[in-house]
Amino acid sequence: MGKIHNGQKIGILTAGGDCPGINAAIRGVGKTAIVRYDMKVIGISDGFTGLINKEFRELTESDLSGILTLGGTILGTSREKPFKSDGKGKNDMRKPVLIKEHYEQMDLDCLVCIGGNGTLKTAHLLAEEGLNVVGIPKTIDNDVWGTDLSFGFDSAVNIATEAIDRLHSTANSHKRIMIIELMGHNAGWIALYSGLAGGGDVILIPEIQYDEKKIAEYLINRFQENKAYSIMVVAEGIKTPVKDESAARYLSRRIAELTGIETRETVLGYIQRGGTPSPMDRVLATRYGSAAADLIAKRDFGKMVALKNNEITSVPLADVSGRLNLVNPDNTMVIKAKNMGTSFGN
Ligand code: F6P
Repeated sequence: MGKIHNGQKIGILTAGGDCPGINAAIRGVGKTAIVRYDMKVIGISDGFTGLINKEFRELTESDLSGILTLGGTILGTSREKPFKSDGKGKNDMRKPVLIKEHYEQMDLDCLVCIGGNGTLKTAHLLAEEGLNVVGIPKTIDNDVWGTDLSFGFDSAVNIATEAIDRLHSTANSHKRIMIIELMGHNAGWIALYSGLAGGGDVILIPEIQYDEKKIAEYLINRFQENKAYSIMVVAEGIKTPVKDESAARYLSRRIAELTGIETRETVLGYIQRGGTPSPMDRVLATRYGSAAADLIAKRDFGKMVALKNNEITSVPLADVSGRLNLVNPDNTMVIKAKNMGTSFGN
């Protein structure tokens, strides 16, 4: 494949919580833009904060070498939401205005926003303000609407599954109930996948309302059937009546009270977001990044790259913005797990 002189100047930013695979995506966009399309690539620091403060640097091909396997983001990230309300019911437009001014001063032809729901919403609002924008879905939670998968998710599931695997032996030795809390505020994808992969006996996700008494009954039955221990895989976003306690801590207390069985909890936390991406995430992030550069070359803006039936495609940011990809309680994985005796607490 030869070089096509396209000549556009593109900015890349990474915003929101980090996840494994971001650098692979930056590399995918940047290398395709430089090698295939002869574009200029600018790396913007710390998400939208970098556009507000005009903090950026040019990324050359050599800057993009050796980053495929690196965790985190070489550009830095922040949770800056420039369109966020000022708290008085009005949107403060100073930041979006600054972003627009700086985008123009930097002479950008397009802004690539790598992020999750918040970032993609901001990307859409910037597109409405007249900026050329392309989005890439990134989140361990896999809750971005319009794509079958976000990169980061596979790595998180691998890490969570390994943690669950390790809990089995200690749970067995002590004949305990082990509760592991995984990330996912709105969506229970990580808990569902790693719960299935790790053989969780109870899986609790925000999308399915649970009943403590039914869980206790189920766990007592298991012990009466001589099953030495039980594993509960819980998404952090499940509703509990106590605000200042983790879901795992709350459940650990309640389940011990209701069953009389010794119970322990683990909150896996940021381990799920750290470190090198899985091979699947490296491939997905690379495909997304490269496809984003193809969209820019065609000046097909206002889109997010997406995966549908293992093919890379794109969807309008307008469709993605403000929507969530949640687990349907009738998802076939939920049904199959229930058919094998797994409890979802309902
Ligand atoms: O990346 C998504 C996510 O991991 C959520 O599951 C989690 O609750 C949240 O980010 C926490 O991240 P932070 O503390 O960086 O805001």
